[in-house]
Amino acid sequence: MEVYNKKEEIKAAIASFKSNQNTVGLVPTMGALHEGHLQLVKRALSENDKVVVTIFVNPTQFDNQDDLEKYPRTLEVDVDLLKSVNKDNIVVYAPSVNDIYEGNTVSESFNFDGLEHEMEGKFRHGHFDGVGTVVKRFFEIITPDKAYFGEKDFQQLAIIKKLVEKYNIPVKIVGCDIYREASGLAMSSRNTRLKPEYKEAAPFIYKTLKSARMYFGTKSATLVTQWVTMEFAKHNLLELEYFIIADAETLKPVHRKSSKKKYRAFIAVYADDIRLIDNIALN
Ligand code: PAJ
Repeated sequence: MEVYNKKEEIKAAIASFKSNQNTVGLVPTMGALHEGHLQLVKRALSENDKVVVTIFVNPTQFDNQDDLEKYPRTLEVDVDLLKSVNKDNIVVYAPSVNDIYEGNTVSESFNFDGLEHEMEGKFRHGHFDGVGTVVKRFFEIITPDKAYFGEKDFQQLAIIKKLVEKYNIPVKIVGCDIYREASGLAMSSRNTRLKPEYKEAAPFIYKTLKSARMYFGTKSATLVTQWVTMEFAKHNLLELEYFIIADAETLKPVHRKSSKKKYRAFIAVYADDIRLIDNIALN
């Protein structure tokens, strides 16, 4: 399995795949790979001849320097994990910051028709400009036929679909289900940093989301939100940052339910200094 660090190298590899009529799937990641990432890779392998996995901790999408510095970097283990999935049809592109940003580590400014102002956009300033910038560059460098993103970051998935639509990028975006630990906790690279008592407490997040889904059948979004807020107020380890019930398409908070729309609940929680996000379809 080849690991490339320079865009010229990955571009040459892609050119050779394409000259052999191979289709190319892209799975962008920040590394510290876990089974959730591998699910995306396996799906991509089942739908493409070749799969490019990018491993790049993108500085422009972090609004918190400490989070950026502490973000786990485990390239060798990541490469071994990918090899265990498939040695022949995966290539890794693990560039340096300079290879991507060429000395100018700033984001482009995007208009994602308001999607960027909700939830994560409110709490992580500049985050989606950073994500948009790096993913657009990956699309330019790799020119994939399909690209795979997890519903774990549902807002990010919606924003990438918008990016592709606005810039007419010829790639099909494939959304993949959230992969969870047996406890229900959504897998995340940040989970490895959880101290044992927080790791034990964290499944409460998904448990509460499932109860919220049940209550939403008969109760208003406001009442369900109040209930979730109370549940977290009583919890002595987990701190709620936001819980929002939103229209799954516009991501705008719900005021009045309509039977025609799809709704989703979104949550961000601090477990110690580690920020965890999750979401669930409500209907
Ligand atoms: P990262 O957090 O490494 O996630 C890479 C991809 O894996 C994303 O599409 C994410 O939604 C998906 N993913 C993570 N955990 C998952 C889980 N438990 N189940 C299903 N999918 C999961 O998201 C990013 O990196 C970055 O923002 C990136 C898109 C690479 C741009 O820098």
